Amino acid sequence: MKILALSGSLRATSINSAVLRVVKQLAPASIEVGLFSGLGELPLYNPDLEHAPPAEALQLRNEVAMADALLIASPEYAHGVTGTIKNALDWLVAFEGFADKPVAVLNATPRAHHADAALRETLITMSATLVEAASITLPLPSAYIGEAELLAMPEIVSLLTGVLVKIQRTVKRLPEMKPFLGSSVYIDSQYPAIAAQAAKLAEGGAAEEAIAKRCFEFVRDEIKHSWDYRMNPVTCKASDVLIHGTGYCYAKSHLLAALLRANGIPAGLCYQRLTLDGDQPPFCLHGLNAVYLAQHGWYRVDARGNKPGVEADFCPPLEKLAFPIVNSLEQDLPGVYAEPLPAVIKALTEHQTVEQVYDNLPDVGDQINTV
Ligand SMILES: Cc1cc2nc3c(=O)[nH]c(=O)nc-3n(C[C@H](O)[C@H](O)[C@H](O)COP(=O)(O)O)c2cc1C
Repeated sequence: MKILALSGSLRATSINSAVLRVVKQLAPASIEVGLFSGLGELPLYNPDLEHAPPAEALQLRNEVAMADALLIASPEYAHGVTGTIKNALDWLVAFEGFADKPVAVLNATPRAHHADAALRETLITMSATLVEAASITLPLPSAYIGEAELLAMPEIVSLLTGVLVKIQRTVKRLPEMKPFLGSSVYIDSQYPAIAAQAAKLAEGGAAEEAIAKRCFEFVRDEIKHSWDYRMNPVTCKASDVLIHGTGYCYAKSHLLAALLRANGIPAGLCYQRLTLDGDQPPFCLHGLNAVYLAQHGWYRVDARGNKPGVEADFCPPLEKLAFPIVNSLEQDLPGVYAEPLPAVIKALTEHQTVEQVYDNLPDVGDQINTV
């Protein structure tokens, strides 16, 4: 596996460059870390040059395309990112080979948080796959530390070794996670209002799990359950749920999946087959979510909205769902779905009012394993 390392500092004794050189030294045989040395020679980005980019930009693009992941370490200048790193990223905005690329961001100066947050925002906007678990702030006491001193700090060595392991794990799992990160008709995570709400929920450069919790709480608490509130219109698409502020459990799960995906966090849909009233048929489907957390793997959450007797929460690794399975007739449908079940889309798109949906709640029949 190849990692391309980019330092946002041109300083000869840069702490950011030193950290990246240490990462290179710590890399096991299975990981090749290459430091890009040409950022100082890269011309200032000019969209007019896109038809014939300069050689330095082509070299950067080529190395980015060849890498399985990028690792960026960059200082903060006047509460912003350095021109060096921003210029490099500007050259990659229109470059196809950058989209979806796993990128981890290291912050070598604990007191500097503006640049770290801005860098993450830029990378997400550029459709990078931010490797949250490997994007860390290093607890360094000073910026005047060289490679040898860094290598003599066990905590730093352990953190940087962990960064390599986590990048490698992400690169390996990416193909299987792809369906759970994409935008689609009903989970329209690229819809502008969804992207804006997702960015708002990620404000302050919070860690992945904290962002996932905020997204969950937003959908659980701010979006009204259509039947609890007898609230029209009937919504299905994530963007409609956000715009109208209401949805059935299934629709709310579409919005939560979209907000998580817009933040680069893999998210899918789960279903339960529940009895409508006590220990007997009829049944209906209940929609909830699974979110992939680097620390815990797939974790189910239910943002349908709390009410007396329903207390769902986000407290990994503990699962706190709205409706624990309580009788032998009820079941969890196996697996995590990337897209809504056809029965759910049918119920939410073929009925005009929340009352009509309630009278025609989706179900999948007894053969749930064949769904
Ligand atoms: C022009 C300039 C502006 C800076 N602005 C900030 C800042 O806003 N916040 C901060 O925490 N540090 C700031 N610093 C300190 C740098 O983050 C610190 O020197 C860091 O070590 C630079 O990274 P480097 O060692 O990789 O070159 C600034 C340094 C320079 C040279």
